[in-house]
Amino acid sequence: MTLLEKINHVRDQFNTDLERISDLKSWEELKNTYLGRKGLVSKLFSRIGDVPPQERKTIGQALNSLKNELQNQVDSLLQTLQEKVDESHNVDYTLPGFPIFKGSRHPLTQAIDEMLSIFARLGFDIAYGPEVETDWYNFSSLNLPLNHPARDMQDTFYVDEGIMLRTHTSPVQTRYMTQHKPPVRIVAPGRVYRNEAISARSYCMFHQIEGLYVDKNVTFADLRGTLELFCKMYFGSDARIKFRTSYFPFTEPSAEVDVSCFLCNGKGCRVCKNTGWLEILGCGMVDPNVFKAVGYDPEEVSGYAFGLGVDRSVMQKLDIPDIRMLFDNDVEFLKQF
Ligand code: DAH
Repeated sequence: MTLLEKINHVRDQFNTDLERISDLKSWEELKNTYLGRKGLVSKLFSRIGDVPPQERKTIGQALNSLKNELQNQVDSLLQTLQEKVDESHNVDYTLPGFPIFKGSRHPLTQAIDEMLSIFARLGFDIAYGPEVETDWYNFSSLNLPLNHPARDMQDTFYVDEGIMLRTHTSPVQTRYMTQHKPPVRIVAPGRVYRNEAISARSYCMFHQIEGLYVDKNVTFADLRGTLELFCKMYFGSDARIKFRTSYFPFTEPSAEVDVSCFLCNGKGCRVCKNTGWLEILGCGMVDPNVFKAVGYDPEEVSGYAFGLGVDRSVMQKLDIPDIRMLFDNDVEFLKQF
């Protein structure tokens, strides 16, 4: 057989073999057999030296075109095979992709983080206390001795005698003061528990942020200035605050603070029930008996404290009609925020 005949023979053989290729493994073998480094095509090339010089050009061209032809066929076969694999996996590249939902922080966590960062900028440290609390910290240290009628203000979940789920974050005040000397400037976020009838407006667990500032010569004006600044930073620069006299055993004098409604700016609307104001916190000047309980001298230091209800503010701000929605952990609901 002449070299030219061999070239044509290899081509025919390739075309026959090509018909039988049905998967990537046999395709790989075919490619190596013909186009590999020691494949049939390169064997033919190695014999070009035996060809008489006047024929070399023709043979060379025939070899090159064989090589290109085979390469093209091998390439297009690969594409066909890959398409077949995709089809067998039922991949339809024209379909839209599956959306990836990003998780987000719970709206209450977002609000608490935002409030804490405002207080942090005003120089407050963050303190924490346990949710299971002793009677002394939850009540007695806060000027609510045993049999004090004000204990009935908060319906308590008892864990054991003298042990309860804290009914407010105020015990973090006395916990902190027993461990630190004045001056003290803290905010304490956390869950609190009350045995109340569950409804759209009240739940057995909710969130507060406690504030406490104790130093020499702390006045009610300091309290007012701090709360006003906080409200402007959190609710918006138009926010105004109003103090109403109130009673808490651990502060004297005591007050409740309303902030002008962020939605109607005080004109009256659905969110503020036409009052123009939203109740946000209780506060006052730390009662001397609280200082005595933690070993501070009420003649030396004075201080203010406040307790901010987080859940209702979040409900008003985000227009959430039922407090239970905050605790159902329904992802469809939560992913809106
Ligand atoms: N602990 C009170 C409550 O849960 C709120 C409160 C009122 C906290 C006045 C304070 C305060 O620190 O000074 O109802």
